[in-house]
Amino acid sequence: MPAKHSTAQMDGSPRRSYYTGRNLQRAKAVADLRARTHKLMPRFVLEYLEGGSGEEATLYREREAFAEWRFLPHTLVDESDRSTKCDILGREAALPVIVAPTGLNGLFMRHADTALAEGAARAGVPFVQSTMSNDPMERVAEVEGLRHWWQLYIFGGDEIWQELLRRADAAGCEALVLTTNSQIFGDREWDARTRTNQSRPTIPTMLDAARHPRWAASTLSHGMPEFANVIDFVPKQHRGFFDSAFWIRQQMPKTLSWDDVAKIRARWDKPFFVKGLLNLEDVARAMDSGVDGIILGSHGGRQMDWAASALDILPRAREIVGDEKALYMSGGIRHGTDILKALALGADAVLTGRATLYGLCAGGADGVERALELLQSQMMNELGQLGMSSLDALSPSVMTRMQGIPVPTG
Ligand SMILES: Cc1cc2nc3c(=O)[nH]c(=O)nc-3n(C[C@H](O)[C@H](O)[C@H](O)COP(=O)(O)O)c2cc1C
Repeated sequence: MPAKHSTAQMDGSPRRSYYTGRNLQRAKAVADLRARTHKLMPRFVLEYLEGGSGEEATLYREREAFAEWRFLPHTLVDESDRSTKCDILGREAALPVIVAPTGLNGLFMRHADTALAEGAARAGVPFVQSTMSNDPMERVAEVEGLRHWWQLYIFGGDEIWQELLRRADAAGCEALVLTTNSQIFGDREWDARTRTNQSRPTIPTMLDAARHPRWAASTLSHGMPEFANVIDFVPKQHRGFFDSAFWIRQQMPKTLSWDDVAKIRARWDKPFFVKGLLNLEDVARAMDSGVDGIILGSHGGRQMDWAASALDILPRAREIVGDEKALYMSGGIRHGTDILKALALGADAVLTGRATLYGLCAGGADGVERALELLQSQMMNELGQLGMSSLDALSPSVMTRMQGIPVPTG
């Protein structure tokens, strides 16, 4: 776990517990939403949500990297009029957050993708829908006020991604995100331990699921979810929920390359991002690939284990990207201070995966909105504590790194 950082914890705190009830206004931090998620969800769902790959070293690093950076706050400055507003793709967003693409959301509840989109729209930030989502993109597109982005996994022949792009464009998606680090599926052993094979849960997993009737009622009332946007491409005999996920993964070409990025660029006129970069040479390579920006990250510690976290390479990546293109990061965002740190180190915005999923599990669209509201109010407070009134004022000069690991210089 991340190093302890609370004096009360170190010295022996009073007995504490997070709020796990249904009144979302009583959730004071994403940690409360997470605790409620743990109360409500069966263990195999939690393994899917929380787990990383291999020994989970990168998953751990994603939080540890934030813990290493401390603020150097200014005082005696006017901090009366503060704002977390920012520009994302030339339009105002309420805070520099984009809800990350996550697949299999139907495991958390029915119509989870629509709920995530609703929460994001109400909070005033974009939502990226995954290729492996469970609600049809056309349904999600109907959410009022939504800034809808589409995340593309490449599998099967070119006709599949071309059709998905055509539909995303027709549904009004404002941007496209190509995930580049998942052609070989991460080795998520803890998740795998909940099943005897690719698709069959273990007996303890089934018994545990049976002990969560509220989850079963909100998730399985209409049967297992399906991958609504891609199921037609899956052969009939592989259309079961787990089976279709594995079948699709098997069809992901291991040859995906910058040539494919160019092919996709040629077919998509709107903003286009590549997601999952963690090497500075790739960051430099992306600059002349025609993309509009990049998203650094390790897939939430779920792909290559022992990889660095996005925060580790952020300052150097910013130098490479300059002001020309957008630089986003994902991984480990749980608190408003994490977002301020990422912005100070060079990000234009961050993507939240688990933080908003905890909100979803805790309270559907309202919970997603609450997670984003909490992140925003924490940012607002901490911005003032930092002696600043706008996000533009953030820079590495308000940060110091407390220990050890130097920022890779590429
Ligand atoms: C349950 C789960 C499912 C995910 N599914 C996808 C996906 O379908 N496509 C994708 O590009 N990234 C996926 N990711 C990675 C997220 O987009 C994001 O990069 C990551 O969650 C960020 O880390 P965080 O959870 O610590 O915020 C997934 C992450 C999680 C936790």
